[in-house]
Amino acid sequence: MPKNAVFLLKPQLAHHRAFIDGLSELQAHQHERYYVEENLDLAQLSNKKFFKEYLAYLAEQELGINLAPNRVPQSIYWLMEEQTDGQLVWIGRVSIRHRLNDKLRKIGGHVGYVIRPSARRQGYGSRLLALTLEKIRQHQPKIDTKQALLTCDETNLGSKKIIEKNGGIFANSLVQDDSPVRKLRYWVPYT
Ligand SMILES: CC(C)(COP(=O)(O)OP(=O)(O)OC[C@H]1O[C@@H](n2cnc3c(N)ncnc32)[C@H](O)[C@@H]1OP(=O)(O)O)[C@@H](O)C(=O)NCCC(=O)NCCS
Repeated sequence: MPKNAVFLLKPQLAHHRAFIDGLSELQAHQHERYYVEENLDLAQLSNKKFFKEYLAYLAEQELGINLAPNRVPQSIYWLMEEQTDGQLVWIGRVSIRHRLNDKLRKIGGHVGYVIRPSARRQGYGSRLLALTLEKIRQHQPKIDTKQALLTCDETNLGSKKIIEKNGGIFANSLVQDDSPVRKLRYWVPYT
């Protein structure tokens, strides 16, 4: 379990430095699974002007403005931890998609997340999903089904455990294009 208080916050300027610190760590880490942070431009986002534009882009995504084809509105939260000296550390990110499209119904689901490498295997991922389900329960955001759909690779044991610990009910597994690894699909009640 996390040692200190952890909570979800909307991305915001006040935590620019903490985010850049987490992003640097994520990008320096050899990773085997895709997450959106690998495509962010760290040097550019370190600049406050571009970071503000990024925040505006996230706000638009939440409102469903200027969405790319096949994208649905999504809300982003950061998992932050308060240190004993009051400093907030960026631990990870969760994306909550407001509705499913054909692709997300198969792969992706309503919720995607990442935890910074130095914080893994300490319970943060499990806590992140628990807090995310609370947000969905409070309609922040409201999603389009009575249970949240979560998917993970059958080889992603950490994510599989996170989902199952948070009440995930296994639905089925699907073959993925160009991959020998199947995708596991779970419905997670949140009411
Ligand atoms: C998957 C991920 C979110 C797990 O986060 P985490 O903070 O390490 O998760 P937790 O510490 O809450 O671990 C939950 C359980 O999984 C186990 N676990 C975590 N990572 C594991 C791994 N790589 N191999 C085996 N078990 C693992 C933990 O030991 C824990 O088990 P327990 O409940 O029996 O104690 C993190 O590794 C990550 O960000 N990976 C890259 C992005 C990603 O895969 N996102 C999910 C896409 S579906």
